[in-house]
Amino acid sequence: MPDKSTTSEAPIPKLKDANTAAADTNAAPAPSGPARKIYTILKYGDPILEKPSNAVSKFDAELAELAEDMFATMYAAQGIGLAAPQIGKSIRLTVVDVTGGKNPEAKIVLVNPEIIAFEGEKREEEGCLSIPGFRGYVVRPQFVTIRAQDGKGESFEIRGEDLLARAFCHEIDHLNGILFLQHLSMLKRDMIRRKIKKLRKQGEW
Ligand code: NI
Repeated sequence: MPDKSTTSEAPIPKLKDANTAAADTNAAPAPSGPARKIYTILKYGDPILEKPSNAVSKFDAELAELAEDMFATMYAAQGIGLAAPQIGKSIRLTVVDVTGGKNPEAKIVLVNPEIIAFEGEKREEEGCLSIPGFRGYVVRPQFVTIRAQDGKGESFEIRGEDLLARAFCHEIDHLNGILFLQHLSMLKRDMIRRKIKKLRKQGEW
């Protein structure tokens, strides 16, 4: 979902030798553990993004690996949420971290998630890693409660407020083949579609 709307202060750089300094300039949140696969994020126009995804029934090491690779892919793209169809996998798996990798405890894996309750309304600007460069105002519930399974298949419930609620709704929409464009006014949606069409003609999409 949305790109990070706030940028935090850069940490004070430590002294480094010339070889490592260059690599660290764009440092994404430091990944710990094995090197992760960074997937290509599919862009609007790819039919998989508008197709409902299939329920996950196998909770194995492969699923856990995929979720970690999705976090890495999301952090590399400066996102706060990523759904499996965005990397070409039509399964009901999504990852969310509204801290953008700053707090490992904020990492949330949702498998087969459902919204079981919601409350209030908030209208905020939203974007999507599959529709880079475009944003629009979308009304979402202020609070949502989600029921989902974790990477091991354990059921849990989680409540989100404001940005987290928005991220949950946006990502669950992805699993249903719905993009935030569908929540915009027809006028705004058509304007974005026209611009994307133009970019595609120019080979820039
Ligand atoms: Ni999105």
